[in-house]
Amino acid sequence: MSRLRSLSLMAPLALIACAQAASASTIDVVKTPWCGCCSAWIERMQAAGFTLSVRDVEDTTPIAEAAGVPANLRSCHTATVEGYAIEGHVPAEDIRRLLEERPDAVGLSVPGMPIGSPGMEAKGRSDTYQTVLIMRDGKHKVWATHQGTATAHQH
Ligand code: CU
Ligand code: CU
Repeated sequence: MSRLRSLSLMAPLALIACAQAASASTIDVVKTPWCGCCSAWIERMQAAGFTLSVRDVEDTTPIAEAAGVPANLRSCHTATVEGYAIEGHVPAEDIRRLLEERPDAVGLSVPGMPIGSPGMEAKGRSDTYQTVLIMRDGKHKVWATHQGTATAHQH
């Protein structure tokens, strides 16, 4: 009797513990198997303290579509975290701020693959690029500007 009783008391506690662990910002990434820069981005996010789960697919387009990322804001991989889409090489600090501020939006994107973004590092060069917030109507606005070292045509 006492053993049964303790089991039934323990079970709900274990469930609560699991739910909390799962909500601790697991980033679910979908990428193509041959994407090297995607793996590099995943490593940067892990180094920044995020937990990631990774799934390989032949074509990420349907995934990006389902996540609500407009065609003009797409990149090489699509991730989701706590209901938000994270498209491309988004820096960890931008994701953290998103999860803190929780705007009513689809998520974040770094369109294309700018040199110098996490996972796209190149020796001696980084471009200025923007992380954008994808709005529910498909429009977007600047979430963060990341200053690069490349200086073009300065007089
Ligand atoms: Cu990439
Ligand atoms: Cu990628």
